[in-house]
Amino acid sequence: MNTSATQKINVQKVESSRIGQVDFDNLTFGSIFSDHMFECDYKDGAWQNPTIKPYGPLTISPAAKVFHYGQAVFEGMKAYKDENGKVWLFRPEQNFLRINKSSVRMAMPEFPRDIFFEALIELVKLDKDWVKPGLGNSLYIRPFVMATQVGVGASPSTEYKFMILLSPAQAYYLGDVKVVIADHYSRSANGGVGAAKAAGNYGAQFFPTNLAREKGFQQVIWTDASKHEYLEEAGTMNVFFRVNDTLLTAPISDRILDGVTRKSVIALAKKDNITVEERPVLVSEIVEAAEKGSLKEIFGAGTAAVISPVSAFSYKEKTFELDKQEDGFASRFKKELLDIQYNRSEDPFGWRYEV
Ligand code: COI
Repeated sequence: MNTSATQKINVQKVESSRIGQVDFDNLTFGSIFSDHMFECDYKDGAWQNPTIKPYGPLTISPAAKVFHYGQAVFEGMKAYKDENGKVWLFRPEQNFLRINKSSVRMAMPEFPRDIFFEALIELVKLDKDWVKPGLGNSLYIRPFVMATQVGVGASPSTEYKFMILLSPAQAYYLGDVKVVIADHYSRSANGGVGAAKAAGNYGAQFFPTNLAREKGFQQVIWTDASKHEYLEEAGTMNVFFRVNDTLLTAPISDRILDGVTRKSVIALAKKDNITVEERPVLVSEIVEAAEKGSLKEIFGAGTAAVISPVSAFSYKEKTFELDKQEDGFASRFKKELLDIQYNRSEDPFGWRYEV
């Protein structure tokens, strides 16, 4: 049985806020956390004791299964403040559905919808002063679930902790993003956990991404694990390619994360009558388009990354530079998305959610 949130959330407020100590103009992504966090434990087959409490360390056994078998999933969302001080979320239902999809893949229990939304809204409301106004400022929201049962037997945990943290954020990438197209390492494989936002999917990318960084590139665009012929996604974002005026992106599969920003870009493009092809995209066709000059743009799409134009890509030691497109698709979609997220425009799709 999954306990539902007719259980009231217990709220323990901080005695004094740390907000005065934060330099909101110079934030490093994900390094500062707001005054409060949400915590809820799964035990005896039920989610129990939903609590908002002061942000702080946890006491967990070193034998907790998360440390040994990596049973952990997470989400990334953002809260935005408009010019009138109202706070908005963007398509939170999508994150709710996806964290449960990720949990199911990792043999973890689903989290109840009513506690998810109640906790999210109450927590963001409580720390709403941490959402700074102004385009580019946001409060990054990190829901996550981890296995807390004590024991190193290799079987699914019977106990879990669901938490939500809030972290004031600005841009994820400062400056240009340059990417390497993978031709050796892989992020995911058929039947694997690529479509889940499983913690280990990200940890496993650090080593090959470090190799790319040593060569001056920030991200890897992953390719299919079998032959490295098809482009899939980058470590922190889905990827779009503009060839002439057609937008190409890999289709969702069990290897690719069903990104909320990705699906929003596709909807915006279709609304604007831009041809979008969600289909397997060959590395060779993008290299050829770059050589012919028909590759106009590559950009990443993700909650943290928003829309991040790629200024160069490297494949098998050859680097291709892309011309900056001031009025390209990336800047157009970024503006349209931000205008919706910050309540600066109509919301034709009903994506905004008032806190
Ligand atoms: C997000 O965009 O929320 C992500 O999950 C990327 C994160 C790993 C920084």
